Amino acid sequence: MKVLVIGSNGQLGADVVRVLIENKIDYFPATRKDVDITNPQAIRHLIDQQQPTVVINCAAFHDLSLCEQSPDIAMRVNRDAVRSLAEVCKQNSIKLMHISTDYVFDGSKEEGYTELDTPKPINIYGKSKLAGERAATEAHASTFIVRVQSLYGQTMPSGKQHNFVNLMLKLGSERDELKVDQCLMAPTWTYPLAKNLLELLKTDKYGTYHMSCKGRTSWYEFAKEIMTLSNTPTPVIPVSNDFFPRDFNRPENTYLIKGNLEEIGLNLMPSWKEALEGYLILKSSNQN
Ligand SMILES: NC(=O)c1ccc[n+]([C@@H]2O[C@H](COP(=O)([O-])OP(=O)(O)OC[C@H]3O[C@@H](n4cnc5c(N)ncnc54)[C@H](OP(=O)(O)O)[C@@H]3O)[C@@H](O)[C@H]2O)c1
Repeated sequence: MKVLVIGSNGQLGADVVRVLIENKIDYFPATRKDVDITNPQAIRHLIDQQQPTVVINCAAFHDLSLCEQSPDIAMRVNRDAVRSLAEVCKQNSIKLMHISTDYVFDGSKEEGYTELDTPKPINIYGKSKLAGERAATEAHASTFIVRVQSLYGQTMPSGKQHNFVNLMLKLGSERDELKVDQCLMAPTWTYPLAKNLLELLKTDKYGTYHMSCKGRTSWYEFAKEIMTLSNTPTPVIPVSNDFFPRDFNRPENTYLIKGNLEEIGLNLMPSWKEALEGYLILKSSNQN
C-alpha cells in the first residue's frame, strides 16, 4: 500500500501521516504546495509521479463564514476538486477515502444521525461537502466517504492558532468565566481517528461511514471537562446556541451514530472523555 495524503499539513492530515509512519506504511504527504486540488492537471501529475494505491483527501475549504461569502470557492474545493480526484483515482484503480462532515445534516433530529438519515445541509459549507460526497461516489465506486465531526489535534486547523481545547485552556487562564453554547456533538481527537481511518482503509468495504469519538456531549460539557482535567478553576457558563452572533446557519445537534462501522466491527474510537485525557497528557508531555 502507498498512501497519498492530501491536506497533509492540516489538523487531521498531520495525524494521518503520523499513523502511517507508526505503521511503517509508504506514503507521500501532499500540501497545497504539492497540489492545488482545484487544478485537475496538477492532481493527475502528482498521481503519475507518486503512483499511490490509496488516496486520502483531508483537504477542504471549511471556514463556515468564508464559505457563505464565497460559495463558488466552497463548491470548487469541496465538490469539483473532489470529483476530479475521484475520476483520476478511478482511471488509475486507486482506492479513495474522502473526509466529509456532520454538517451535511440540519441538526434537528433529537437522537443524532445514522448513515441512513437523509442529509439536509443548512449552510454553504454543508451543501458543498454533500455535493462533494455525491460527486466522489458517482465518479468512483471504490470510495469511502467518512463523515467526521468536531475535530481537535496536535496540529492546529489550517489558518488558526488554536483548536477548541487549546482555546478553552487559554481563555480559562485569562478570564473570570467562560461562556459556551450547548450544541450537541462528539468531540473527536484526530489521532485515534486517523488510526481508525487506517483500519477502514485496509478493507474494501466501500460506502459512507460516520466516525467520531464515542458518546454525545455539548460544547458546554466539553469545555467543563477541559477545565476539570486541566485543574483550571474558571467556571463555565452554559449559554443559548444563538448567544454568539454568526453569519451562517449552524446545526444544533449533529451527533454521528456509527452504525456502519459497528456493522463491520470497526468502531474502534475511544470515548470523547478518554480521547480528551489522552490529548491533554500528550500536550503536557510535549510542553515538558
Ligand atoms: N475541523 C473540524 O472540526 C471538522 C469537522 C467536520 C469535518 N471536517 C472535515 O475534516 C477534514 C479535515 O479537516 P481539518 O480540520 O483537518 O482541516 P484543516 O486543518 O483546515 O486542513 C485542511 C487542509 O486542506 C488544505 N487545502 C485547502 N484547500 C486546498 C486546495 N485547494 N488544494 C490543496 N489543499 C487544500 C489546507 O491547506 P492550507 O493549509 O495550505 O490552506 C489544509 O492543509 C475536512 O474534510 C473537513 O471538511 C472537519
